[in-house]
Amino acid sequence: MSESALLVLSGQGTSIALERVPHGLPLWRHFGALIQNTAEVWPLAGMRPLPPNALDGDPALDVLPTHGLGWFGQPALLGSRDHGEDWAQQFELTAVEQSGAGLQLSLQDKVAGLSLTLRYAIDAASDVLTTSVEIQNLGSTPFRLDWLAAATVPLPPEASQVIGLAGRWTLEFQQSRERLGVATWKRESRRGRNAHDSFPGVIVGSTLADDDGAVWGAQLAWSGNHTMLIEPLTDGRRQLQLGEWFAPGEVVLAPNERYRTPDAHLTFSAAGLNGMSANFHRFVRSAVLRWPGGTMAPRPVHLNTWEAVYFQHDIEGLKALASAGAEVGVERFVLDDGWFHRRDNDKAALGDWWPDERKYPQGLKPLTDHVRSLGLQFGLWVEPEMINPDSELYRAHPDWALRMAGRPLVIGRNQLVLDISRPEVTQYLFEKLDALLREYPIAYFKWDMNRDLATAALGADHRGRAAYRRHSLALYGLLARIREAHPSVEIESCSSGGARVDTAILRHTQRVWTSDCNDALSRISIQSGFLRFLPPEIMGAHIGPAHSHTTGRTHSLAFRASVAMFGHLGLELDVRELDAAARSELAAWIASYKAWRDVVHNGRIRQGTQGGLSWLQATAEDGNAALYGLYRRHEEIERYTPGLRLHGLDPARRYGVQALHLPPVPHSQSTTALLQSLADGSLVLSGAQLRDIGLPLPPLPPESAVVIGLRALP
Ligand code: GLA
Repeated sequence: MSESALLVLSGQGTSIALERVPHGLPLWRHFGALIQNTAEVWPLAGMRPLPPNALDGDPALDVLPTHGLGWFGQPALLGSRDHGEDWAQQFELTAVEQSGAGLQLSLQDKVAGLSLTLRYAIDAASDVLTTSVEIQNLGSTPFRLDWLAAATVPLPPEASQVIGLAGRWTLEFQQSRERLGVATWKRESRRGRNAHDSFPGVIVGSTLADDDGAVWGAQLAWSGNHTMLIEPLTDGRRQLQLGEWFAPGEVVLAPNERYRTPDAHLTFSAAGLNGMSANFHRFVRSAVLRWPGGTMAPRPVHLNTWEAVYFQHDIEGLKALASAGAEVGVERFVLDDGWFHRRDNDKAALGDWWPDERKYPQGLKPLTDHVRSLGLQFGLWVEPEMINPDSELYRAHPDWALRMAGRPLVIGRNQLVLDISRPEVTQYLFEKLDALLREYPIAYFKWDMNRDLATAALGADHRGRAAYRRHSLALYGLLARIREAHPSVEIESCSSGGARVDTAILRHTQRVWTSDCNDALSRISIQSGFLRFLPPEIMGAHIGPAHSHTTGRTHSLAFRASVAMFGHLGLELDVRELDAAARSELAAWIASYKAWRDVVHNGRIRQGTQGGLSWLQATAEDGNAALYGLYRRHEEIERYTPGLRLHGLDPARRYGVQALHLPPVPHSQSTTALLQSLADGSLVLSGAQLRDIGLPLPPLPPESAVVIGLRALP
């Protein structure tokens, strides 16, 4: 096809191609593998014979399909005015601007009085395509917007398998594989956060294999409600749309007003699921995360007080906990819930962000002094968006909570949600947090959000409109304001675990709390789903108590540590209770994490499963080192653990291979010299051997793990 008829954007391994047509909007021709020769892309317009019983000019998928004039699939835009026919739209292309890897299309519908700006950009380093759409109401009456897809892209017929992420509290990021059929596949969140049950990301492919085959991934940069859908088209392809879900009447554009969708990030890889994840990880690392000072410092080992003491804060006990943590290698002490004014349980006090005068008669200083004297950073838990009806703040400002006229208050965990879109509310929160940051050496906030939104805002001009969208925008504004005033502070996004994890909140935060579940067995699948989209250095991963508080299962320290060390490591157990042997074992695991975090947090992640085994491999970008974690989730009938092949190493180099720990095996088994050498570090294998023959593995009883480090020999 002639260059002028085709609009192409390419990265290193992916391209999108749009076909310009004489009338109407550019048609979608391609989103997938790199187009080497644009002349080989045949034109769709004029090549599609009109099937019987179709409207004349049966439209193909264009960049922004709209309803009313012949497109019967899912529209990318839905909206209307009180009177008239503007629910049916037909846009024309008014301008095209292309510069390097960016493309901007301007569209206008003079009859409906609407204009649109579509933006596409491919980040060449990661092959991630970012798209967004902006609409402006050019009419003289309000335009009610019901849906505007941030991305509308085609998928080829062979992309017939989908992975969506489902879950619940303490079991987030569960990958559910389904076959796409004639029905529309759709996942939504209407909880005001992306929620435990619906991370805003989806994966599509033909086989969805670990390392081979075409895979498309998409994620929406938005922390509120969302819709993701995949709809079969009449020509055998499918369209994928992602965008913000609106409550009825939530977005009404006044004359001239604009709405811009969140960004959608999409990627294609010919190297299977792990290729797709590598693209996303590279993109998040380079284009999303904003570290204090510009670069990521080594991710410090946390000690979080929650499962160690819950609400029982006693200053001497906490000092002893910090000291015990420091002795085993902890680097940041995070004081969780329970520290502020009359907070003895989860029934009261949210909103009153000053230290509890009974538990901390001299404020937090004696504790922060102690923590700092140990050489540890200090972090503090807050949940600013929330208010308990039993709080000083509520008694002073009951009208600051979101509520609906004539309806009962919708309570969750005894709390209501503040209307943070009101400037006086964010001003109050900013002042309280700013005062804490000024008074204490706080390096880190754990910023929690523990309930779904279910409410509207009545105040001022909101007139009872749903508050979801405004809430997310106000949250980003408040986070940005705090980081601007205190650029060195890091913030963790927590939402009863991983209910608010996305690439928008990650522009303001440096870690997410993946799940309230610290059970290592559950964590294997939780972390696997997470790592499909986001890199390990921001994935909070804690070694919890031996007896899990959320599942009741009991696991060895080695198993818990083996799973946690592939994220941003923390402890969430009472170190004071451990005996000397357990403390020294814990200290050894923390030392291993410190020795390997550079590889895990900057490296390329591969993951996979094989029967009852799951594995993770982090490989340094230069191929000089790799850390390999193998987990046996349940037993199988095979007598031997199969050797596993490692990719990504230099085939010509030789690697020293050493297990950080080998699990004890019930009933004595004889061991081989090979396994002995794995344990003592004398095993040397070439990259080619590791790739083609594999790594010999020890026997693994159920719910045990082995972690193996490989370093290239000089
Ligand atoms: C949420 C968080 C936990 C903990 C508690 C405190 O559940 O996810 O980690 O901070 O709140 O109340």
